Amino acid sequence: KKRIGILTSGGDCAGLNAVIRAVVYHGVGTYNWEVIGIKEATHGLMSDPPKFIQFHLETLDNLKLDILDNLLLMGGTILGTTNKGNPFAFPMSDGTFRDRSSDIINGYHKLGLDALIGIGGDGSLAILRRLAQQGGINLVGIPKTIDNDVGATEVSIGFDTATNIATEALDRLHFTAASHNRVMVLEVMGRDAGHIALAAGIAGGADVILIPEIPYKIDKVCQKIRTRQAKGKNFCLVMVSEAVRTEVGEQVSHIQQLGEDRLGGIGKYIAEQIGAKTGAETRVTVLGHIQRGGIPSPMDRLLGSAFGVAAVDLIAQGKFDQMVAWKNREIVSVPIAEAIKTYRTVDPEETLVKTARGLGICLGD
Ligand code: F6P
Repeated sequence: KKRIGILTSGGDCAGLNAVIRAVVYHGVGTYNWEVIGIKEATHGLMSDPPKFIQFHLETLDNLKLDILDNLLLMGGTILGTTNKGNPFAFPMSDGTFRDRSSDIINGYHKLGLDALIGIGGDGSLAILRRLAQQGGINLVGIPKTIDNDVGATEVSIGFDTATNIATEALDRLHFTAASHNRVMVLEVMGRDAGHIALAAGIAGGADVILIPEIPYKIDKVCQKIRTRQAKGKNFCLVMVSEAVRTEVGEQVSHIQQLGEDRLGGIGKYIAEQIGAKTGAETRVTVLGHIQRGGIPSPMDRLLGSAFGVAAVDLIAQGKFDQMVAWKNREIVSVPIAEAIKTYRTVDPEETLVKTARGLGICLGD
């Protein structure tokens, strides 16, 4: 009888609990394995004793009623997560850094695990893979991140919900913008990838969409606003991805420039420039972590369930160092190495960029 672990690592997003539920239902329900839910990502394995929740057949019926059924619609992760502390240079309380990778590996072996399912973005998956190689961990990866930037998969868990939330925000801003003749700037997350801004911007009818992959010129943005003004449309919806950059200082992302203050920094900066150059009244909304929370969309519940079931099947087949992925309307598995070697940003030639241009949306170039 196998004993498998599951952990959620890096920033949370909607749909993680759907994966946990699927792994327990399939691992325990179908295979009669034991599933160990490790708490707070690798920190749970690092702790002595390791921190975990146990799911096995005897408790499944009660758990189904108590927790598991609710998981489908719960945001966040019941296991907890963290994106703090690279285990290979772990920050200690005395200000020094220590390699704690062996503590994590020991935690895996102490728990008697046969395999580990790691749900993470590119950063977490790279760390988990390094740990797996160093410590003989049988790892299967599942991609998650609202940013949708994990390589080798068309979509990651959390992106759809975040896009829905950003679209709804734009829908709400639309009417207040029109009522007051204002330029509304909506700043969304995405790190150095503009997937959320592009998708939600098109779906929500933005007039301008700025993404990190296409450096913007503020004059192009202002020109679009003036054109609309000339047509008697005195309001404008401007979607801004958090790491956009101008044609000046191209290689430096605003995340790096603004550091911890990045949220709200770039949207405010662009709104001020628009106001100064066009005379329009501007307002800024920074959507922030609202994009990560709340009830998962049906798509994220589906994807989470499908990824969870497929990851368990990979373990049953003894296929490790693989990540489940979504390609051409199918779940496939790809080497984790392939997924982490590419950071999937928006391709300026991709369909959605062409769609935006076809609709007359200003992309700032
Ligand atoms: O990677 C997910 C993400 O939400 C990014 O879109 C954003 O830049 C970052 O995490 C925010 O991180 P934190 O939750 O640490 O503020």
